[in-house]
Amino acid sequence: MAEDLGGLLPRIQSPPPGPRSLEMAERLSRVESRNITHLTPDFPVFWEEARGANVRDVDGNIYLDLTGAFGVSMAGHTSPAVVEGIRDQAGRLIHGMGDVHPPAKKVEFLEALAALGPWPNSRTILGSSGSEAVEAALKTALLVTGRPGILAFEGAYHGLTSGPLAATHREDFRGPFLSRLYKGVRFAPFPDSRDGDRAVKKSLDKVRWILREGDGGDEVGAVIIEPIQGRAGVRIPPPGYLEALADLTWNEKALLIFDEIFTGLGRTGALFAFLHEGVVPDLLCLGKGLGGGLPLSACVGPARIMNAWPPTRGEAIHTSTFLGNPLSCAAGLSFLRELRKGDLVARSETMGRKLLTLLTTSLAEISEVSEVRGRGLFVGVDLRHPGTNRPIKGVAVRAATLALREGILVLPAGAAGHVLELSPPLVISEEQLDWAVPRLKKVVEKALAE
Ligand SMILES: Cc1ncc(COP(=O)(O)O)c(C=O)c1O
Repeated sequence: MAEDLGGLLPRIQSPPPGPRSLEMAERLSRVESRNITHLTPDFPVFWEEARGANVRDVDGNIYLDLTGAFGVSMAGHTSPAVVEGIRDQAGRLIHGMGDVHPPAKKVEFLEALAALGPWPNSRTILGSSGSEAVEAALKTALLVTGRPGILAFEGAYHGLTSGPLAATHREDFRGPFLSRLYKGVRFAPFPDSRDGDRAVKKSLDKVRWILREGDGGDEVGAVIIEPIQGRAGVRIPPPGYLEALADLTWNEKALLIFDEIFTGLGRTGALFAFLHEGVVPDLLCLGKGLGGGLPLSACVGPARIMNAWPPTRGEAIHTSTFLGNPLSCAAGLSFLRELRKGDLVARSETMGRKLLTLLTTSLAEISEVSEVRGRGLFVGVDLRHPGTNRPIKGVAVRAATLALREGILVLPAGAAGHVLELSPPLVISEEQLDWAVPRLKKVVEKALAE
């Protein structure tokens, strides 16, 4: 690994995708199912190594990563502390028997996770992917309430395995599988702060109606929401909304699930996004950064809720082969320590403020930039036709390709691909942000002109 990789500015030596990336794309197309990796002459590049906020591709190009690789690499790519934790564990035990003869690391990790709060006596179900954490939370809610119905939100993304997919809103994800999906999920509008009080009222009226009267379908036992919607384009509900939602939910004796798979663990400048609003849910889903880059997720709740699960009698009714995998738990433990040691939550808050200010100032004169919004290092640039509320379809997808040529990794978000989503590693430096913002401005201008 290049010694100084991590805090560097981009160095493009072979216009991306370079020849080795193109060759990899050709090879991949012959072995991977075609629905997975989007391969075009301009996209993607294949990664070889990464550290901090830098990624180096197979052609030797160095990028500044403003995605955190789907928001996962919170302590930075290949964080030395996490590498050390993995290395140490890998030499002793790579796989255990999660729910039979558990690895000791599982206990240590669960204790560290419980110490994060917000409950003094939490209980956890571990998984490998975010989808699994959501699956576990939805099952728990059914056990607690006996009511299978689910209330989710327009724009929601909770994962793509069948249970969570039923609560994921986007039509392109759901459409082909609709006939298989659970029919008892109802969607309420997610209020954007840009739309103000009217949007809040509209959303809460619908929530109230679904919870109280309903449409004659399955009664709702679970209300699941991202406190800030991620893949829908960093959508932040107005202050007070989550509190009102919690009141309605609890009045009807349903369970409130916060899916903080994207927003949790410091991404938004607080350990959990719900801390900004002071509303503690009944169940919390975590994933992405939790395993320091290894697959690890969690459904966490207080014992009074989680004890709706019967004690296992030797054959766990909800488990999986890799539950509590020692390598993932070791990586997760190192990550949680690093989060504290590096004061990364506070860093997310300060650097996020800086990024938001820089972007707001820099993009002010572009009339298509309808909003730059964010919390901590979770920021979205929303692009709409001026004077209307209409998203500019695909503009952020074009911007992501153009940014790649400048040495910047960004992702599009929003159902129309109209939001540039930034979720960099929390260790990104001021110098890197200062460098990136004027380039992003150029990229947005170019994408709008295409
Ligand atoms: C809020 C949220 N929930 C759930 C998921 C699903 O996680 P995974 O892709 O690990 O299954 C994601 C993934 O992006 C997410 O952002």
